[in-house]
Amino acid sequence: MCGIVAAVAQRNVQEILLEGLKRLEYRGYDSAGMTVLNDKGELTRHRALGKVAALGDELAKAALPGFSGIAHTRWATHGKPSEANAHPHHSGQQVAVVHNGIIENYEYIKETLQTSGYTFSSETDTEVIAHLLSDKLQSGFSLFDATQEIVNGLGGAYALGVMSSKEPGVVVGARQGSPLVVGIGIDEAFLASDPLALLQVTDRFIYLEEGDLVELREKGALRIIDRDGNPVTRPVHIFEHGDGAASKGDYRHYMQKEIFEQPSVIQAVLEGRLSGSSVLVESFGPDAQVLFQKTRQVHIIACGTSYHAAMVARYWLERYACVPVQVEVASEYRYRHPVVPEGSLFVTLSQSGETADTLAALRFAKTLGYVGTLAICNVPGSSLVRESDMTLMTRAGPEIGVASTKAFTTQLVALMLLTLSVSKAKGQEEHASIVEALQTLSSVCEQALALDSQIEQLSQAFAEKHHALFLGRGAHYPIALEGALKLKEISYIHAEAYPAGELKHGPLALVDSEMPVISVAPNDDLLEKLKSNLQEVRARGGQLFVFADKNVGIKPEDNIQVIELPHIHEALAPLLYTLPLQLLSYHVAVLKGTDVDQPRNLAKSVTVE
Ligand code: G6P
Repeated sequence: MCGIVAAVAQRNVQEILLEGLKRLEYRGYDSAGMTVLNDKGELTRHRALGKVAALGDELAKAALPGFSGIAHTRWATHGKPSEANAHPHHSGQQVAVVHNGIIENYEYIKETLQTSGYTFSSETDTEVIAHLLSDKLQSGFSLFDATQEIVNGLGGAYALGVMSSKEPGVVVGARQGSPLVVGIGIDEAFLASDPLALLQVTDRFIYLEEGDLVELREKGALRIIDRDGNPVTRPVHIFEHGDGAASKGDYRHYMQKEIFEQPSVIQAVLEGRLSGSSVLVESFGPDAQVLFQKTRQVHIIACGTSYHAAMVARYWLERYACVPVQVEVASEYRYRHPVVPEGSLFVTLSQSGETADTLAALRFAKTLGYVGTLAICNVPGSSLVRESDMTLMTRAGPEIGVASTKAFTTQLVALMLLTLSVSKAKGQEEHASIVEALQTLSSVCEQALALDSQIEQLSQAFAEKHHALFLGRGAHYPIALEGALKLKEISYIHAEAYPAGELKHGPLALVDSEMPVISVAPNDDLLEKLKSNLQEVRARGGQLFVFADKNVGIKPEDNIQVIELPHIHEALAPLLYTLPLQLLSYHVAVLKGTDVDQPRNLAKSVTVE
């Protein structure tokens, strides 16, 4: 949700900033811009509507030379996508600002500034920051002190990168509610919303804390103060994944690459967390054994695809660990008045660890008397990880495609580890058969991915469709929801998912020969019930597409196409059945010619409410 990159270097920064923006494009891609301070001490800027490539075209026509600069790729909140609303925003010739987040009190600030004579050239909330800084600089403040002064008056969330023509070779950053990291180069320093943006120049990062202010100066000099104004030293982390993780390799799209990475990342998330036919509870941290013993119920909070993983976990934790579970989307939870029974464990699930609603839910939950908090997350050093009592990293590596795939399946594996750990810590069954099945999961997933060309053929039936219905039962209802979400996100086909048993309570009215109905049919105790539901669709002339266990005996007939999946332990079937649904959406989107990795109106990391 908007990407920031900034640099103070010993060389021209334009290419560093442009490459950074390309790598941050998953965060927003409706417009982009860059400001560089040239050797005459002038702030020079290009902005372009559309993707970062459009900004690249502008820069190819007229370069922006200079050793310090800030840049931005936008996901519009205030003001439509346009060149005028694109960042950086300037105040006169003196100040340039890039911002990720939302300044909630900007209207009031804007009125005050207008009364003092400032004129506005955009509809954004961000422009107030540029004018506020300008005001302070005119009163004699340094850029750093001016930023410290003004952030106290900003309501809402921000990550900022600011520069001034009065202070060459200085960039100031601030973080409150939106992510910002400092990249440490050799005699150079950088800022970015995500380390990925800077892997071409460094693998050393400082994750700023909430309220931190940082000043980058020439020769890599750094100064950080915390929210109380105290100078602080933050630890430097080495980025674990190689730069290759951020490239497409031989694949046509990131999403395709990430789908096919699933067998290897599933192995990664299991590594060192199982021993023989048992789970290692301490994978969740040294306090896990005691905390899980005390756990009488679990609340799981997440957004989007992560929420669907949480829904699967409810079935697992109740069935295999015998603890009651509540699952809720973070944007609802954070504004409810939840009743928290004694012994409740609070779990957040998030690929990015920076989703604004999930983070706010965690902070709220910490005031409610939970026995402990656990974050299951893919990004080490993210806010969610830093602020939770326990963490389990999903080790999926960077996920660039906006539609989440490998992050989802690794979350599911992590949630199964949680289920097994809670059961074990409470002295209940260790579920050796599930642990054994986890050890072969990766190869069963390979077999499912080998169905790719069959699924590609099947996808042709969807290219002209406007609607689709997904059905599942039990732990596969969330998998149907996830299948529908993938299809709508990247192919723009309207898709809904229902628990198959609910079909006759409404959605059956939509079924006719034009309505594709997709179902997953693993070999579980709900199979016969599901088969009856599928007959209800057939009887109304619906077109059925069934992903079925090879042993269940659902055979292709008129209006039923069947893709057979390898047999898998019933407990792990939701993981396996996710894969063909991902491939189906992917191929439908490719056929429709949509932008698979960057679907319209969406962003990967939602750091605003
Ligand atoms: C956005 C992304 C989704 C993701 C959701 C939650 O909507 O496009 O793919 O599932 O945010 O993100 P999180 O990082 O918290 O899992």
